[in-house]
Amino acid sequence: MPISRIYGPDDFGNPVHRRTTGQTRARVTDAERARALPMPSLEWTPEVERATAHLYEKVKNVIPEIEWPFMAPYIKAINDLKKQRNAVILAHNYQTPEIFYGVADIGGDSLQLARETTKVKEKIIVQCGVHFMAETSKILNPDKTVLIPDSRAGCSLASSITGADVRLLRERFPGVPVVAYVNTSADVKAEVDICCTSSNAVHVVESLNSDTVIMLPDQYLAKYVASKTRVKIIAWKGACEVHERFTGDELRSYRAADPSVQIIAHPECPPDVIAEADFTGSTAHMIDWVRNNRPKRVVMVTECSMADNVQAELPDLEIVRPCNLCPHMKRITLPKILDSLIYLREEVTVDPAIIDKARRSVERMINLKN
Ligand code: 13P
Ligand code: SF4
Repeated sequence: MPISRIYGPDDFGNPVHRRTTGQTRARVTDAERARALPMPSLEWTPEVERATAHLYEKVKNVIPEIEWPFMAPYIKAINDLKKQRNAVILAHNYQTPEIFYGVADIGGDSLQLARETTKVKEKIIVQCGVHFMAETSKILNPDKTVLIPDSRAGCSLASSITGADVRLLRERFPGVPVVAYVNTSADVKAEVDICCTSSNAVHVVESLNSDTVIMLPDQYLAKYVASKTRVKIIAWKGACEVHERFTGDELRSYRAADPSVQIIAHPECPPDVIAEADFTGSTAHMIDWVRNNRPKRVVMVTECSMADNVQAELPDLEIVRPCNLCPHMKRITLPKILDSLIYLREEVTVDPAIIDKARRSVERMINLKN
């Protein structure tokens, strides 16, 4: 069912507001120094080469040999520190290959990471992704220490809406259930009925057995869901700054150059992009589609590091990359992950009252039967 109107902060007389996600502490604070472990050697030695050779095997198609001696000492140091700290590293599919294959223990899309975080045994979780993902880990693990290597790693969707906006939407549409994309802050999750990700959005909306549902904050994901269901969707004006830049024209030009090319897109893309795609799905569903269908040439309409990670696994695949980087995901680097483990920075905290409310909406999504 087409969406008739999309709401935003201006509909409630509010100036457009933006939530900040915190500051990186460039200097080492006294508290960090007190709990710091010694800085390991970052030299490229035969021992480092031996210890990381099996990891280089995984990325040799996408990381030139000449670059490995600069990365491998960090990778070895991080993997050693993980054991010392009893820490686990979770990485989203958009992390660069040296992180995704070199230091991550668990990789995946937002839903997989949220599910996996509930099974973690280690005391410390280092989230290599953006701030809302680390907050989700904290919501599900209030007693663990959750670290993000750079807390400025935000998300244009998460910063497009606040908990106060959700309360205003509820006043405007009394009784209408509210679904929040996981790309939202904890205070938004605390105000909604259930969360969703791009891999289960239609299922979540239909699970509410309501003829109308408020779905926020991604207007394009909402339009995609609206095209797949009879439920009437009330949407919010948020957009992903990475996916909204793709255009249908761009994809038509790839198709004109090679009519056999396969185009797969993330549902955060605008409708004219989705209309050109042969398949639309979450990052994990896009990867599975490539693994199962083994196209000769594929256009992956999403963040470019994911294409690198797929290329590392499937060297014969020809990937056409209309390359859009997520500047927030790219704030996470090997040196910052190392600092994160040495100084236990930057700790993600969420008000306990918000955690309890937000956990209900995240767990309701995780526990939803297929
Ligand atoms: P996925 O849930 O598909 O991994 O998407 C998360 C995201 O931020 C995409 O931009
Ligand atoms: Fe947010 Fe878009 Fe970056 Fe995903 S790619 S984290 S939705 S800004």
